[in-house]
Amino acid sequence: MESVWLFGYGSLIWRPDFEFVSSKVAWVDGWTRRFWQGSHDHRGVPEAPGRVVTLVPAMDERCGGIAFQIAAPDVADIFNALDYREKNGYDRCEAPLYFALDESESKVDGIFYIANENNFAFLGDAPIEQIAQQIGQSQGPSGSNSEYLYNLAQALRDLDIDDEHVFEIERELKRLDQTAQ
Ligand code: SIN
Repeated sequence: MESVWLFGYGSLIWRPDFEFVSSKVAWVDGWTRRFWQGSHDHRGVPEAPGRVVTLVPAMDERCGGIAFQIAAPDVADIFNALDYREKNGYDRCEAPLYFALDESESKVDGIFYIANENNFAFLGDAPIEQIAQQIGQSQGPSGSNSEYLYNLAQALRDLDIDDEHVFEIERELKRLDQTAQ
């Protein structure tokens, strides 16, 4: 068995809690990142879910994140742990990962976790202000939902990945925080 490439586009970008051999910026074709998934177990609770990211289909778009290369002997244990971490509605998917935004040649087969619209915790779209408000109010066993959003936005900036959806919610949450003071 060979090493496996895992693509992370949400908390896996800024909190990979597993060993990896190497990592680099990568892109998946035909998907876009959205704060449309409910979090009952990390950034919210069942009676007051937070909002975390999933990927939704988007023709002609590429979503940027980090590809982590996991060594063959670690694959089974790491994916068991990730299945547990991502248990609130996410399934494993397979797709090519591209190592450059504009190139299709440099690619590997990758695995990533997607929470599709049929899962029990899916929340879907809402006005940006409502998404930001929900994130600002939510708290779960892994910490505040705001921390998830701010860490993700900062990590994307550090990686030079533009994501207007994430940055717009970040701006709105900062505005709400300021008006509350
Ligand atoms: C991911 O990071 O790739 C999956 C979604 C999340 O755990 O935030």
